Amino acid sequence: MKAIRTTLAACLVALSSLAGSPADSQLPRAESSRVDIDALLVRMTTSEKVGQLVQRMGGRQRALNSRLGPEELEKVRRGEVGSYLHVAGAEPLRELQRAAIEESRLGIPLLFAMDVVHGYRTIFPVPLALAATWDPADAESAARVAAREASAAGLHWTFAPMVDVARDPRWGRIVEGSGEDPFLGAAMAAAQVRGFQGSGLADADTIMAGTKHFGAYGAAEGGRDYAGADVSERTLRETYLPPFEAAARAGTASYMTAFNTLNGVPTTGNQAVLRDLLRGEWGYRGVMVSDWRSIEELMAHGVADTRAEAAGLALEAGVDMDMVSDVYAEELGALADADPAVMRRLDEAVRRILLVKRDLGLFDDPYKYHDTAREASIMLASDHRVEARRIAERSIVMLKNEGNVLPMAREAGRIALIGALADNAFTQLGSWRARGQEEDVVTLRTALEAVHANVTYVPEGADAAIAAARGADIIVLALGEDFDRTGEARSFAGLELPDAQNELLAAVASTGKPLVVLLMGGRPLPVPNVHEHADAVLATWFLGVEAGPAIVRTLFGDNNPAGRLPATFPRATGQVPFAYDQLPSGRPASEDLATDTVRYRDLPITPLYAFGHGLSYTTFSYGPLSLDQSTIPAGGGSVTVSVPVTNTGKWRGEEVVQLYVRDPVASVSRPVKQLRGFRRVMIEPGETRLVEFTLTAGHFALWSQGEGWQIEPGSIQLMAGGASDAISAQGELTIIGRAHGAASPASIAVESSDEGVAS
Ligand code: BGC
Repeated sequence: MKAIRTTLAACLVALSSLAGSPADSQLPRAESSRVDIDALLVRMTTSEKVGQLVQRMGGRQRALNSRLGPEELEKVRRGEVGSYLHVAGAEPLRELQRAAIEESRLGIPLLFAMDVVHGYRTIFPVPLALAATWDPADAESAARVAAREASAAGLHWTFAPMVDVARDPRWGRIVEGSGEDPFLGAAMAAAQVRGFQGSGLADADTIMAGTKHFGAYGAAEGGRDYAGADVSERTLRETYLPPFEAAARAGTASYMTAFNTLNGVPTTGNQAVLRDLLRGEWGYRGVMVSDWRSIEELMAHGVADTRAEAAGLALEAGVDMDMVSDVYAEELGALADADPAVMRRLDEAVRRILLVKRDLGLFDDPYKYHDTAREASIMLASDHRVEARRIAERSIVMLKNEGNVLPMAREAGRIALIGALADNAFTQLGSWRARGQEEDVVTLRTALEAVHANVTYVPEGADAAIAAARGADIIVLALGEDFDRTGEARSFAGLELPDAQNELLAAVASTGKPLVVLLMGGRPLPVPNVHEHADAVLATWFLGVEAGPAIVRTLFGDNNPAGRLPATFPRATGQVPFAYDQLPSGRPASEDLATDTVRYRDLPITPLYAFGHGLSYTTFSYGPLSLDQSTIPAGGGSVTVSVPVTNTGKWRGEEVVQLYVRDPVASVSRPVKQLRGFRRVMIEPGETRLVEFTLTAGHFALWSQGEGWQIEPGSIQLMAGGASDAISAQGELTIIGRAHGAASPASIAVESSDEGVAS
């Protein structure tokens, strides 16, 4: 992160005398990257300052630009707007920018923003599926393509990555993030920030990342969207914050606050986390935007009585920009004019916004994002599609493959393709589809019929499905959710498949034909009946424009699946939340119902599919784990952990080697397993590769109330394997001495996650 000079005092002296003075019109306009932000601040009237903090909607999510009429242009000319969201298009946005540059008094450029989450026009797999690649390079590449397209359409800023750790699949927004684990989540968060922001904001094909939703939005009680989060400081630090911290380290240009309360205080007015922790402790210098109307909602939360109080609280907490609630626009001017302390905060916020505009190069060339030729040529470019398909293939997780029913032979005879989701193009775009178009999607049905001559497709209806299944050699059944079951405000109390799907499953299974189930959706689904009836099960999420070809190539073995679950699949909705990194219990779970243990009596003690689970067409075996040294001083140093992994099958394939750790005795109870390393490696049949991980003492720090990150002496258990429930090699390490840690282990680990793999 860049450090910025703090010259507020100097500005403030000059403020009252110069702001808005008639001499302004003779001053040079703010048109160069050498623009002196301090000098510009001095020239701004209170109302122009407040204007910079105002983000207005240019339209609605599905009706972009629809509100950009003459009245909005007038507001821009008067300097009352700093940014627009839900806008798009090089040409229309050039016109808006022109009004700001040429017709407003100070010519300060606007920021154009949109939720470009997993693609702009070329839609990639939804973020949860991207996390299933267990390869941050894939998440980075998807974000890079998204930034290239979005920037060509006039956009400077995306509200992504969404890095909320989600451990309760009832929460519909689990689809937008990287799942349940802070370590995997931190790696994916940093990768996406790098992808959006490329080698620097000054490049015309990069956009500002908007890491969201700061706090613990993912911990909403009961998985009910917008509900409060009540988490201990340790859980906050160890579980929910690491991906945010990793995004800060990767240089995210902005953050967004969460809608909900954190331990009773709405994040949008929460000084302790926004100002003290994020800006103070982490040294974050970029922009903080509220979520949609969340400043206004401080009143509904019951922490502000009036709009003026809400404005004051949010500004004081460190929220720079007001997304659409107009509370800042209406209230801040009077508050700031009456109170120098508020004016100081206002200046800080304006400065941060002007700085990102400068970093984007907008003072230099405000129209560099408005090249219509680039826009026309880049959307859905063939190399973008190729990348979308490659990553879609890497997102697929094979959950079961009994009797090696997959891959299917090309001459597989007659295929009964069943289930409406198999031909639902729109659903494959998932939640947040930016400018993704239904007609750009190649569905499973289209892709399958393109390569196989004998496909009978039955969307629904048990009788027709049975008839088709009877006449077929193999059944491919698409089950799961459509896109509208996950996303914002899409929390559900029951995650089981609808009756009609369960009936379809039972009906086709009754034919006894080989059955492959494709499980589509944006969250872990409790589907024990699918596991029971199907010979093979693939989690295919919502895979974007290339969903069909990616699935078909996997079915026929052109792609050997290697995705892994980024979140636990429960056996029943009543089993959630059920993340893998549980604390040990005094009464460890046992299947023996005669003893009283930590479990539900009406379910087995295991999940349906564990975190990290995923199969391949080949098989792997692990050799012993070795360490280059058996001790590590708490104060520094590192240890290299290595494990040989052999491809024991006939297919070339990738294994996702996972390294878990456990601190068996510490001052506080520690999780039974915590992910601290992973590598997705290609191994040829018969080949052995040595997979290495570097661990520092900081990887084992725990959050100690009142004392911060602590590294405690004692032994650490190391476990390597292909899933959290498939540990194949173990080792032990001893930490010598005691020290303070510097940051959350998960965010440290991100920086050492791209080491090579030795053959
Ligand atoms: C969501 C944010 C999103 C914003 C703008 C809100 O409702 O919570 O994630 O960025 O809308 O579309």
